[in-house]
Amino acid sequence: MPPLPPILRHPSVNPDQPSTAQLRWDSRYQQGCTPGHDKVSAWLLAHEHLLTGGRALDVACGKGRHSLWLLRLGYEVDAVDISAAGLQVLAQQAQERGFAERLRLTQADLRTWRPAAKSYDLVLMTRYLNRSLWPALIAALKPEGLLVYRSFHTDLHRLRPDFQLDHMLQPGELLLAFSGLEMLAYEERRLSADSSDSEDCTASIIVRRPPSFNPENHREV
Ligand SMILES: C[S@@+](CC[C@H](N)C(=O)[O-])C[C@H]1O[C@@H](n2cnc3c(N)ncnc32)[C@H](O)[C@@H]1O
Repeated sequence: MPPLPPILRHPSVNPDQPSTAQLRWDSRYQQGCTPGHDKVSAWLLAHEHLLTGGRALDVACGKGRHSLWLLRLGYEVDAVDISAAGLQVLAQQAQERGFAERLRLTQADLRTWRPAAKSYDLVLMTRYLNRSLWPALIAALKPEGLLVYRSFHTDLHRLRPDFQLDHMLQPGELLLAFSGLEMLAYEERRLSADSSDSEDCTASIIVRRPPSFNPENHREV
């Protein structure tokens, strides 16, 4: 069996002074917690035909359910998260499935880490919201590259009043934020009065970077 993929540490992470986010997520993953599901969401699977391979970036990958999916689809995957515990789970699972050689793991704080420009055929981010990162994710796409983003919107606040509203998307926000790109798919589920399913509080989008797109001219919302 090939060795476990190493976890590179970006300077945004100080091992002597772990951030609150790192401590919180390490503790959750060490307790075996799986935010949401281990499975890839049905919406993403329904759009698998759009994912044609190459180099992918999984941002805030957690334990890597989507990285493993992309590896299964044949991508070379860069997976980034602040939690070393989550990345360790992913490293182990990738090794067991024979994917280790196509996976690169980085522990980084996404409040300051930024990806290299024009480097990825696919950038994927799910269930993590950091609006200041969006321009860098767009810039990280190669021409014709795809950005896949799925996260909770503010309807979740009715189910989870403890969650901070500014950690959730506004309904319709993704359409505005990525309006300069070519939209391939969009879904916004809304929570009905009789639903308690957090999946009904998600917005999802897939956009393609047009060949002539200039991120400098992209409007930020
Ligand atoms: C809800 S989980 C989502 C994990 C994965 N994307 C998924 O959908 O299964 C949020 C992830 O964001 C990561 N995270 C939170 N704050 C972060 C930060 N400042 N830098 C990097 N990762 C962070 C956590 O470690 C956690 O793995």
